[in-house]
Amino acid sequence: MREAVAEFVAGGGFNWYADPEARALRRRLARYTGRSAGEIQVFNGSDAALEHLVRAFVKAGDHVLLSAPCYDQVRVLGEALGARVELSVAGDPFRADVGRLVRRLEPRTRIVYLCNPNNPTGRTYSLRGLARLARAIPAGLLVVDEAYFEFMGRTAASLLDAHPNLVVTRSFSKAFGLAGLRIGYLLARRPVMRVVERIRNGKDVGAVAQVAAAAALDDLGAMRAHVRDVAAARRRLVRALRAGGHTVVEAPANFVLLRTADPAGLVRRLLRRGVSVRDQSAMPGLGPWVRVTVGSHDECARFLAALESA
Ligand SMILES: Cc1ncc(COP(=O)(O)O)c(C=O)c1O
Repeated sequence: MREAVAEFVAGGGFNWYADPEARALRRRLARYTGRSAGEIQVFNGSDAALEHLVRAFVKAGDHVLLSAPCYDQVRVLGEALGARVELSVAGDPFRADVGRLVRRLEPRTRIVYLCNPNNPTGRTYSLRGLARLARAIPAGLLVVDEAYFEFMGRTAASLLDAHPNLVVTRSFSKAFGLAGLRIGYLLARRPVMRVVERIRNGKDVGAVAQVAAAAALDDLGAMRAHVRDVAAARRRLVRALRAGGHTVVEAPANFVLLRTADPAGLVRRLLRRGVSVRDQSAMPGLGPWVRVTVGSHDECARFLAALESA
């Protein structure tokens, strides 16, 4: 992937806009996702895909339902547009909550948003549960954020045929390691895609990001090796934490959650030892939890040593 980017940069040609249709990348994404290129559109990260969805489908006063605690972007965007954003918080934030979400639906629900797997709780949804939820939404979209799809390996993409109100967003930031280049995509049936494309600016997604993402898809072996390494490091980390008497939740992603009586204090003490973890206590239902990103073997070892002395 780096070679492809280096070759592109060496070739110059920066006076040209990138392909506004991102054809080379979307052809590869069609192979990767099993969907047709017309059902795929690329954006500056899945954040931008989410932003386009909210802007295209939500007006002031509409209802937007989130399976909380979850990634916060859709709440921020919905509130900025004057939507009634409802955070549905299940009694157990680590378990899927489809029945609860179905009960919260309204005629003006335009978007139901959930992450599969969820950031930060690692909660996962079955395809059956997602199909049930998509069917139950009277006049809105079910947006399934699959930013961590490659770590879990289960996707809702196959449900698109039977559920035209389903949208899947994906990212190159996580398993492919391209966060700084800002590139992600969404999968949707054509009628939904046409609405999103009305407000999409084809010039947005830069050439370097397109080249890097296409090259990353040409080398799926590298991505899969990285995903395997992260899973192995995560399992080791969880074993070590449990052996040390800690309560930990393992997500099918590149993070785990660690329970602690004093999240803010622990974050501070670890920071003094050069280790950064994320305090999740402000999120609904996550009072006693911090999120730990799984790094390399050495980084995990440094974290464990710092935790020991913190
Ligand atoms: C669930 C989830 N969705 C989306 C994103 C943003 O991804 P991107 O870098 O593709 O915008 C993140 C980043 O942390 C995330 O955790």
